[in-house]
Amino acid sequence: MDGPALAMLDLATAEPGTYVLPPLPGEPFFGADTVPQDVLVAEVGRRIVGYLKIRPPTSLESNAHVQQVQGLAVYPALRRSGVARALLAEGLAEAARRGARKLSLRVLSSNPGAIALYRAAGFRVEGVLREEFATDDGGYADDVLMAQRVS
Ligand SMILES: CC(C)(COP(=O)(O)OP(=O)(O)OC[C@H]1O[C@@H](n2cnc3c(N)ncnc32)[C@H](O)[C@@H]1OP(=O)(O)O)[C@@H](O)C(=O)NCCC(=O)NCCS
Repeated sequence: MDGPALAMLDLATAEPGTYVLPPLPGEPFFGADTVPQDVLVAEVGRRIVGYLKIRPPTSLESNAHVQQVQGLAVYPALRRSGVARALLAEGLAEAARRGARKLSLRVLSSNPGAIALYRAAGFRVEGVLREEFATDDGGYADDVLMAQRVS
């Protein structure tokens, strides 16, 4: 899988207020917490235009029935054409193949577009951590916990 292309996609799509940790130029995409088996890509021709990463939220046996979306991005030029919706559908199928009961995610309240996407894809809010993260503009955003049943 093309790590440099995915790192470029992360850099190009990191909009202020949408992330907790900004991607840095030159930072490798793959590492201890991001392995190729957990990354699904959307391609147009042979160019990667979007990706979704899912993995277990913890390494605990008691939490092994949950998979979590931990990364999702689509190039601006391709947005609102269903790429993320398709990636999430495939992520749900992958979570089912892994035997998960639940697919969860965390999203900042300062990212209403992503929240609308997740709602449209069947996720519901399970909890909100108020003002959990400081944002680039000097304010604070809620950590919104969303999930849906896999099976
Ligand atoms: C959020 C993001 C992944 C959406 O990708 P996308 O491919 O444009 O989403 P889709 O085209 O599959 O959208 C499917 C549906 O989700 C909803 N939706 C998606 N983006 C939306 C937005 N910006 N505003 C409102 N609703 C939105 C709509 O219901 C949409 O259906 P419609 O276009 O028929 O109205 C993309 O904007 C992105 O990469 N943002 C920056 C990175 C990011 O915020 N990632 C999420 C971190 S938690």
